[in-house]
Amino acid sequence: MNPKSSHRVFPILFFTVLLGGLLIRCQSQQSLQQTIDTNFSVAADQYRHMMELLPDDRFPQNYDYNTGEMETSGSGWWCSGFYPGTLFYLYEETGAEDLYNEATRILSHLEKEQHNTSTHDLGFMMYCSFGNAHRINPKPEYREILINSAKSLSTRFNPTVGCIKSWDSDPDDFLVIIDNMMNLELLFWATEATGDSSFYDIAVTHANTTIENHFREDTSSWHVLNYDPDTGEIQEKRTAQGYSDESAWSRGQSWGLYGFTVTYRETGDKKYLRQAEGIANFLLNHPNLPEDKIPYWDYNAPNIPDAKRDASAGAIMASGLLELSQYASPEDSATYFATAETIIRTLSTDEYMANVGTNGGFILKHSVGSKPADSEVDVAITYADYYFVEAMRRYQDLTVE
Ligand code: GLY
Repeated sequence: MNPKSSHRVFPILFFTVLLGGLLIRCQSQQSLQQTIDTNFSVAADQYRHMMELLPDDRFPQNYDYNTGEMETSGSGWWCSGFYPGTLFYLYEETGAEDLYNEATRILSHLEKEQHNTSTHDLGFMMYCSFGNAHRINPKPEYREILINSAKSLSTRFNPTVGCIKSWDSDPDDFLVIIDNMMNLELLFWATEATGDSSFYDIAVTHANTTIENHFREDTSSWHVLNYDPDTGEIQEKRTAQGYSDESAWSRGQSWGLYGFTVTYRETGDKKYLRQAEGIANFLLNHPNLPEDKIPYWDYNAPNIPDAKRDASAGAIMASGLLELSQYASPEDSATYFATAETIIRTLSTDEYMANVGTNGGFILKHSVGSKPADSEVDVAITYADYYFVEAMRRYQDLTVE
């Protein structure tokens, strides 16, 4: 080509390609929105099916599609808030009163956990449930329950360590897991609700200690840190649910990504944004993250590509990335958004999404609870559903005018 004419042709070509790209993106957003609309209706029917299967005072935990067995739990299990939380989300998407009524019915069985000081999981249990209930329909009793839950969670904070204790164990140990970042949102809410900054101080101190100690050079995280409760010294860095002490357990990485994104939203402190971006960039550039963006259960699982996938890690990552895309630079934002889009698209396929009337009423298949314990391996699991529905809601909020 004559260099002079290429001078004129190049801008035309450039803008044609750009316009074409934008058009394709618009069309693909449109079709994913249609898929999501269908997904909400399928999910609502699935949860109606689950309602029929569930004993009155029990909470859905998992469903093994190989054996056809559904496992349920009492209100004290860390996952008890996800069932009402998912029902509230689906009620908001569909307007179906039966879903709202079922969510509020089960809250009466969960309420007592506001006084539970034996777990760090009160954020999951109480904020995903009562937090959504209060957001949709504010009531003094919901507010009270949430504040009591935040107080119970705060009893587990040790100022010498600078963290909230995750798991109770030997008195000489103080175990903190990366998942604990997810419980801070309840404390941020309680700060706003009460004006009591001690909740905020605990949350921020926990996040700072976690940045300091829980991350490797490459911004992947250890799962479990064991501190000396009297001195705050680190005694051990190890895994519980990952492949090895030095591996990157997938759901843990997703919890960290989501948790630091929330901490940035609630504090406006850029160091938490940088941490969330560091985690996102570690995950998105990882050679073992598959093309369809659903992680293997551990980024260092030994038998990749034959290792089990963890739909829950994908769903949490999608929801976290969609929020992070609102705060990141335009270039990173586009990558985070596109990855979340791919995850939602993949989870919407028959491979991951169950047909109505199957799968114990759970929406998604193929999550992994704890591979080392051979527990909940390749099953439907309640938190995968919650974060999948949340991710789709966030996607709709960002794309539908
Ligand atoms: N917080 C426990 C888990 O993610 O399995």
